[in-house]
Amino acid sequence: MSDHTNLNHTMKGLAPEGIPVRTDDIFGKAFGFTRADEAIEAGIYPYFKPISEQHGGTVKVDGRKMIITGSNDYLGLTQDPRLEKAATAVFDRYGTSCTGSRYLTGTLELHEELERRLAGFFRDEAALTFSTGFLGMLAVLSALTGRQDILYLDRENHASLYDGARLSFGTLRKYRHNDLDDLERLLARDAGKAGGRMIVTDGVFSMSGHIADLPEIVELARRYGARVVVDDAHATGVLGESGRGTPEHFGLEDEVDLVIGTFSKSFASVGGFVTGPRSVINYVKHHGRPFIFTAALPAMQVAVALQALEIMETEPEHRERLARNAEQLREGISALGFDTLGSQTQIVPVLIGPDELTVMFWKGLWEAGIFTTPALPPGVPAGQSIIRTSVNANHTPEQIGRLLEAFAAVGNGLGVIG
Ligand SMILES: Cc1ncc(COP(=O)(O)O)c(C=O)c1O
Repeated sequence: MSDHTNLNHTMKGLAPEGIPVRTDDIFGKAFGFTRADEAIEAGIYPYFKPISEQHGGTVKVDGRKMIITGSNDYLGLTQDPRLEKAATAVFDRYGTSCTGSRYLTGTLELHEELERRLAGFFRDEAALTFSTGFLGMLAVLSALTGRQDILYLDRENHASLYDGARLSFGTLRKYRHNDLDDLERLLARDAGKAGGRMIVTDGVFSMSGHIADLPEIVELARRYGARVVVDDAHATGVLGESGRGTPEHFGLEDEVDLVIGTFSKSFASVGGFVTGPRSVINYVKHHGRPFIFTAALPAMQVAVALQALEIMETEPEHRERLARNAEQLREGISALGFDTLGSQTQIVPVLIGPDELTVMFWKGLWEAGIFTTPALPPGVPAGQSIIRTSVNANHTPEQIGRLLEAFAAVGNGLGVIG
């Protein structure tokens, strides 16, 4: 049988017995990837668990009601009847999809209304929305940085920022997590080189729950002539007196050049956005390929984000409940003797350490009726595997109490605490 025939077999995923797979087949790595199937077979696969229903702090999986921790519905708005009503109300006007890119046939009055409202909320000149936050990060970073420019990214930044930096033609430098001496060392080393500088940081880090050291970052940016971009996916609607995120939390809104965010967390929708000076937003609008060459955000998702923004602006009680729940979770987990890696927010990592032990821990929680997911390398450093927990505003103190009981029982059972 010719090599060509073999390739056809393997491309169909058949790789029939007795027929050697070509070593240079691009699918070779996929045929060799068996780890996930093995974990499923062993009953220790924690990902892609299908949920049949979700209500407040609980979900239903395989007919069983479980307490969920680790989701990003921080303000608990996904079940708010006003959001559901907003989604169905625009259906009559716009139907199910824009079926076009914003650039061409997909811009709705509703997109522009949301952009005006976002700019107003963040007290910025302008805003632009994207089909997802991930695409927004790609669009902003790749549009604004050219060949001579240098981007400085915190090592713990979200993957979308790394991919945005890679998509751009600029040079990527990584600094140690929240280590501003390291950032300064890199900025100083590049001083005198041509091109612009952009410091990009998560506002709240999605795995550790740390808050970025924005006051120091802003100070360094001033000193070295860099622009500051904050990905506030986990902080919009959560931090700051009015929910305007990490810059508001530190009183530094005038010092941060761009805030990029997502509608997939506190806004209980899907989509992304950037806010900042009109000229910069206009530039991204006309140069951001992941903005231009993709279908526009559907009207229903825009309407939901608009309604959520209205609630964020007028009902601080959701944010306040979230803060209380976050404190109960953080303090409860620490009091049990777990290491929460210095979490400062509603995201509370629970350090377990070795990968296998972390998966066993996850399994123990799952059997106790707690829906959660472990974060293993390469998502976290080797030997530092965690269970990522978080709460939303709709978790009741009793639910958080049951969560803590389960952590205590599994932690004692596996000898992680006690
Ligand atoms: C810090 C951070 N940035 C960006 C994103 C991407 O947002 P989206 O879900 O809207 O694509 C996420 C989502 O996981 C995130 O956690």
